[in-house]
Amino acid sequence: AKTLHQLARESGRYFGAAVDNPELPDTEYADLLGREFGQTTPGNAMKWYATEPQRGVFDFTAGDEIVAYAKAKGLKVRGHTLLWHSQLPDWLTSRTWTPAELRSILKNHITKVAKHYRGKVFAWDVANEIMNEDGTYRENIFYTALGPGYIADALRWAHAADPKAKLYLNDYNVEAVGPKSDAYYKLVKQLKADGVPVDGFGMQAHLALQFGYPDRLRQNIQRFARLGVDVAITELDIRMVLPSDASKLAEQADWYGRVTEDCLAVRRCVGITVWGYSDRHSWIPAVFPGEGAALPWDEKLARKPAYDAIRGAL
Ligand code: XIL
Repeated sequence: AKTLHQLARESGRYFGAAVDNPELPDTEYADLLGREFGQTTPGNAMKWYATEPQRGVFDFTAGDEIVAYAKAKGLKVRGHTLLWHSQLPDWLTSRTWTPAELRSILKNHITKVAKHYRGKVFAWDVANEIMNEDGTYRENIFYTALGPGYIADALRWAHAADPKAKLYLNDYNVEAVGPKSDAYYKLVKQLKADGVPVDGFGMQAHLALQFGYPDRLRQNIQRFARLGVDVAITELDIRMVLPSDASKLAEQADWYGRVTEDCLAVRRCVGITVWGYSDRHSWIPAVFPGEGAALPWDEKLARKPAYDAIRGAL
């Protein structure tokens, strides 16, 4: 039988799953990931706290481990992420910097990390989660010091360091048409008009059954594609309030199928990445207490209804 990635490949897409370093010794898990998927994203290994734990001191051990695993399994890698307000090292957040200092710190970080992974990642989430729900800029340390122009600068620095990588903006709660995705739509349009290197928009798609299916997802993907950028579903999972039952699992399966169809309906929707693939290793229970069962395989690595729904949609 064909794998999810082989099916996705037939329409020119990839189907991937994120992986985190502590999962690699679980060989049953890591082997299945390597067989079923064609792409991976490091769950944590390329974040700032991991790659620059001290100012100007870079550590690529964890990221290199994921790249080596991906190479061994024939998976392509999305880099995640060069700029984010979360999981920053203490040295960066525990004091205040002048705008000039922060600009030079950001430029150096993006340049060093993107250069290190040149030729090893095909895309970067250059900027992650830079907007608030109401479509205003999130007041992270970079925005506060540098103003909104830091996004264009980050994209330009990333492009200079790795001219071939596809450069993405990435966020959650942007799957539906609404104030947050509208803000990205305007931003991408402006960046394009200004000649800033932006190649893609990443929709994390951390969905939850209790919040309803994202309104007009397909049209939303379509409007970004019309701006001339790729769209990727970058961190898909569909959580539920526990305990799971047959009807929730059926609804979850339906949603997995719909997301897959909505992506495949738009030529420029280039691929889908699930944020882990089995409920054995998922970030959901730790971050959303009482919720879980968000992935297409269960804790025992048995396929759930969601798996068949994805298959059917591909
Ligand atoms: C999560 C990881 O999966 C966890 O292991 C970590 O503790 C927190 O971050 N949006 C993102 C991802 O862009 O980087 C986050 O990953 C999940 C939400």
